[in-house]
Amino acid sequence: MTDNTMTDTDDLKTHLLVAIEASASLDALEAVRVDALGKQGRVTQLLKTMGALSPEERQARGPAIHGLREAVTSAIAARKSHLEQVALDAQLASEALDMTLPADAPLPGTVHPVSQVMDELAEIFADLGFAVASGPEMETDWHNFGALNIPETHPARAMHDTFYLAGREDSDPNDRETPRVLRTHTSPVQIRTMLANKPPIRIIAPGRTYRSDSDATHTPMFHQVEGLVIDKGITLGHLKWTLETFLKAFFERDDIVLRLRPSYFPFTEPSAEVDVGYSVVKGKRVIGGSEGWMEVLGSGMVHPKVIEACGLDPDEWQGFAFGCGIDRLAMLKYGMDDLRPFFDGDIRWLKHYGFSALDMPTLSGGVGTPA
Ligand code: DAH
Repeated sequence: MTDNTMTDTDDLKTHLLVAIEASASLDALEAVRVDALGKQGRVTQLLKTMGALSPEERQARGPAIHGLREAVTSAIAARKSHLEQVALDAQLASEALDMTLPADAPLPGTVHPVSQVMDELAEIFADLGFAVASGPEMETDWHNFGALNIPETHPARAMHDTFYLAGREDSDPNDRETPRVLRTHTSPVQIRTMLANKPPIRIIAPGRTYRSDSDATHTPMFHQVEGLVIDKGITLGHLKWTLETFLKAFFERDDIVLRLRPSYFPFTEPSAEVDVGYSVVKGKRVIGGSEGWMEVLGSGMVHPKVIEACGLDPDEWQGFAFGCGIDRLAMLKYGMDDLRPFFDGDIRWLKHYGFSALDMPTLSGGVGTPA
C-alpha cells in the first residue's frame, strides 16, 4: 500500500506540474490551482485522508503528501509571477508611445494663460535686469517661515492655511534640510537666493504655491511671483518705480496709477499693499485710470532680520521685495472671472483663453497678444 501511495502521489505530482507549466494564462493556472488545492481539489482530498490513518501509515505517507502540496504550491506561485510579468510586458508594449512620430496634425493645445503671464513677467523683468530664480515646492519650515521672521507663535502662520507634509507635523521647525510644508508663498525663494548668491541681487521667482483654501477665487494650488532686490542704498522710491514700470508694461497701458497703502508683513519693514486704479467701461472694470482701486500685490523694504538670517549685514545691504498672485494678474489682464477652470484641464477653456505657442511675448511686439 505504501508503495502504491508513493506511485499515486508521484503520478499526481508529475501530472499537476505539467499542467501548471502548460497553463498559458492566469485563468488557466487558476483552474489548475482549484483542481489541485481547492476545497474539493485532488491534493486537498489526499490531505484529508490522513486523519483516518494509523500513526504508522501516517508516518509512511505523510511526507509524500505534504511534499506534493509544497511542490504544487510553489510551482503555481512561480508560474503565476511569470504569467504576470508576461502580461505586464505585453501591456507596456501595447501602450508605448512612439515619440518620433511627426506631429503633422495641428496640435490641439495652447499655451495656458498662467504660463503666458509667467513668460510675460520674465520678459518684462529681464529688461529691468532681473534674473529668474526658483526653489522647491516642498519647503522647510525655516525657509518658508522662520527665516522670513515668522516664528512659530506668529499669528501670520494661521493666515497661511499651511499644508504640512504627512508625518512631519512634529518635526523640528529649525531644520534647514528636511522639507516640512508645501510652500505657502514664493517668499522662501528670497531666502534661498540670498544664501546662494552675493549681492547685488535682482530676481523674480514665479512658481506654484499651496494653501488649504478653495472657492471661486482660491484654489489649493495657485501661482505667485516674488521679486527681490538687494543692493546698497535701495529705497522705497526704487520699489515704487519698479512696480509702476512693471505694471505699465504688463497691462500695456500708460495710464496705470498706483496707490501704496501702509500694511504689515513680517518680512518687510515698512510694508505696503499696492492698489492699481481701474475705470468702469460698459459696466466692466478695466485696469487704468482711477475710478476705483484694486489690490494687486504686497511689498516692502526687506526686514533687517531677514537680511541677517541670510548671513548679510543689514547696515551694508538693503532691498525691497514684492509678492503677487499670477492667476489674479492673468484674470485681470485677460478677463476671466472664475479661477477654478484654470486647473480643470478643459481643452475648450484653453482654446478660448490660451495663447499660440509660436507667439512669444516680447517688449517690442507686445507682451501679451491673445491667440
Ligand atoms: N508672501 C506674501 C503672501 O503670500 C506676499 C508678499 C508680501 C511678498 C510682501 C513679499 C512682500 O515679498 O514684500 O501673502
